[in-house]
Amino acid sequence: MLKGKHIVIGITGGIAAYKIPGLVRLLIKDGAEVRVIMTTAARDFVSPLTLATLSHNDVIFHPFNTETGVWNSHVELGQWADLMLFAPVTANTLAKMAHGVADNYLVTVYLSAKCPVLIAPSMDLDMFQHPTTRKNIKILRGFGNLIIDPQEGELASGLSGPGRMEEPAQILQIIRDFFFRRQELKGKRVLVTAGPTYETIDPVRFIGNRSSGLMGFSLAEEAASRGGEVVLITGPVHITSCHPAIRRVDVTSASGMYRACLKHFGKADILIMAAAVADYTVKDPASEKLKKSREDLTLTLSPTHDILQELGKRKKPGQTLVGFALETSDALDNAKTKLKNKSLDLIVVNSLKDRGAGFGLPTNKVTILTPSGDTIKGKVKSKQEVASDIVDAILTCRNTKNTL
Ligand code: CTP
Repeated sequence: MLKGKHIVIGITGGIAAYKIPGLVRLLIKDGAEVRVIMTTAARDFVSPLTLATLSHNDVIFHPFNTETGVWNSHVELGQWADLMLFAPVTANTLAKMAHGVADNYLVTVYLSAKCPVLIAPSMDLDMFQHPTTRKNIKILRGFGNLIIDPQEGELASGLSGPGRMEEPAQILQIIRDFFFRRQELKGKRVLVTAGPTYETIDPVRFIGNRSSGLMGFSLAEEAASRGGEVVLITGPVHITSCHPAIRRVDVTSASGMYRACLKHFGKADILIMAAAVADYTVKDPASEKLKKSREDLTLTLSPTHDILQELGKRKKPGQTLVGFALETSDALDNAKTKLKNKSLDLIVVNSLKDRGAGFGLPTNKVTILTPSGDTIKGKVKSKQEVASDIVDAILTCRNTKNTL
């Protein structure tokens, strides 16, 4: 099934390294060509000889092969690979990858990747739950890397919780899905909006919101990985996307997002409006910095365009419109009203009351509603998994309407 696919596996020094020879064997049996790279610490957990034998290739540790004097070019390996899998990845290597600390061969190869990258973190649960690790995982997701979330279970420390690396058979399946997922959106143009908008108060201040953009970026990645041609209009965010099928358009304010959406909507087959657009903007922003005084300060706010409602009015046959509803009370009732008022085909409901849902988190919990009253209730999942569920729902909706 994986015949002819070039896979680089990077192993770091975690106990789950013992599972990698099994994975290499499965990949080779499946037809893949595998090159293994290891950190020095990884050699304490699994033998390079085993990996070289199973992969039919020398295992690489250093830029130079000390015996032959041959230079192992990380750039070449980056170009050779169709997919890179880093597994298991320790908290230490996660941090290096997230921050570009290229002090070993494995990280230089990661930084040279031209292909999709899968990362399987594995560590003790306290390390996994530490804010530093959570933040580094978030950064790596922001780069467009796919994180294979560790499973819950007994850990090498004797503790029990999340941290166990996924089993080789499951990783093989993830890799197969990755290569052979149907390109259901091939030839379709997908317009995605993401992130917050900033409304200027004066040259140094603005009114914004807590959106990180992660949900919108995950949707753009998902649509692109299924063959869609994506335009991603984003407000100010700190994340990046590296999928070649995504064209990114940066905007700052609600009016900037409105103009960009009007420009790109006409050609779009699908619109996914995940941005948290400001409902109000400052009426007369100050051209100079406002000076403080002991008096109350009153800002006059005027309503912005409801972009989605406006686009709903311009919707043509064959276009699918998806909105989000962020609610803190009466979530489903409010969402149904938005679904109708904005002429949507689907609405994705977020309740800030749900644990694991909302701004700035790597996870989300959503319910998807259709005009005919169908309801798909999701669990707490990574935003990438939620994005996949939303794209599935869009495809079902288009299939039903025969617009695919
Ligand atoms: N939206 C938009 N333009 C706006 C405000 C919101 O296009 N000016 C879009 C959002 O991107 C989202 C949907 O409308 O897809 C619903 O946004 P939400 O903030 O939940 O609701 P609002 O319509 O703004 O209503 P309210 O804030 O009163 O809940």
